[in-house]
Amino acid sequence: MRMYDIIDKKRLGGKLTKEEIAFFVDGYTGGSIPDYQASALLMAIAINGMDVEETTELTLLMAKSGDMLDLSEIKGVNVDKHSSGGVGDKTTLIIAPMVATLGIPVAKMSGRGLGHTGGTIDKLEAIPGFNTALSKETFFNNVNTIGVAVAGQTANLAPADKKLYALRDVTATVSSIPLIAASIMSKKLAAGADVIVLDVKAGSGAFMKTVDSARELARRMVDIGNNAGRKTFAVITDMNDPLGTAVGNALEVIEAVEALKGKGDEKLMEVVYTLASYMVFGAGKAASVEDARKMLEETITSGKALERFAQFVKAQGGDDAVVYDTSLFKLGSIVTDVPALEDGFVSGIRADEVGIASLILGAGREKKEDVIDPGVGIIVKKKTGDAVKKGETIATLYANDPAKVKAATERLYGAYTFSKSHVDAPKMIYDIVE
Ligand code: URA
Repeated sequence: MRMYDIIDKKRLGGKLTKEEIAFFVDGYTGGSIPDYQASALLMAIAINGMDVEETTELTLLMAKSGDMLDLSEIKGVNVDKHSSGGVGDKTTLIIAPMVATLGIPVAKMSGRGLGHTGGTIDKLEAIPGFNTALSKETFFNNVNTIGVAVAGQTANLAPADKKLYALRDVTATVSSIPLIAASIMSKKLAAGADVIVLDVKAGSGAFMKTVDSARELARRMVDIGNNAGRKTFAVITDMNDPLGTAVGNALEVIEAVEALKGKGDEKLMEVVYTLASYMVFGAGKAASVEDARKMLEETITSGKALERFAQFVKAQGGDDAVVYDTSLFKLGSIVTDVPALEDGFVSGIRADEVGIASLILGAGREKKEDVIDPGVGIIVKKKTGDAVKKGETIATLYANDPAKVKAATERLYGAYTFSKSHVDAPKMIYDIVE
């Protein structure tokens, strides 16, 4: 078999066999196929696509390129939730303790921020003392005792994806639906869950800018999951405005804690309840998604989910006092209100630009080796559809470096558009793919 022939076949729109896909994945991961040939094939796939069968083969081979986690030591049906990436997305922090309270184990491998999007691991590390580098024993023990553990991805989880993702990033092939589907699902399959709930985001802050393309990605990932024997659901949610109000690591943890105390932003909670309901229903703990939602609401009103979150923080070495008193978080010392420049209505927010403004303040990484400042970020006070008066605060910045405030403020103004007439707020849930 020759890599040249595989590239040429896909260039002409042909369907690759399992053997050809295996030749590529093994050869590229092992180093016998060079970047230039892998790049050519990725571009041919980006242009000519792959069908469900080809994408499933690619996903399985990428998953098997490293460790396949065996979660059989964990009691119960393992459920995983995955977001395709967004701004202000703190849903894992809220959902994990909620579903754990209902007896569903959450053994979660999470990632760090990528580009303008945030990552759960960076958020959790904003909690003083919190450790995300757990040994396998501690990880399993925590899930079996308190029902939840969240750890950083091990280096050997789908290494083929790691290599291919880095290449896609520099060859304009990130936005290909089969390649995104294989990338996300390879990691999900390797992480071992029985039930997978995907949060596929659509809008300015997401990889998929339109609901139609998000639906196509969702369909493909659900098919791959089901073909691989995992019960898979996808919820297509809005990512035009940032999700909730906080963007930045400690600020997002505080918002998640407030949500667990029953004071969550309405739109954020709509996304939380929808995703969590499919997790509870998928795990077989409720007869319908509607029943699941009622059970989940009770985890908040009873205070049990908050208590579980505190146990989870403590079990991973974090200071659980911050859960009961969020003023213990050390936030940026420079607090700047950003005022509206005219009367009107917010007609749109580019969530990706808000993500970049937060990154400029130090909440994300410009380069891989950058160190995150957990206390900085943005509280978004006015969102799409809100009326504003000139001088009223649209957002508040938390910073530690005065030099960064000006650039972040300019970026934030660039993220907002205003109009003189009323604009409807975006709906949060666009579709469910089962
Ligand atoms: N997230 C991933 O893990 N992979 C992609 O290709 C896009 C988003």
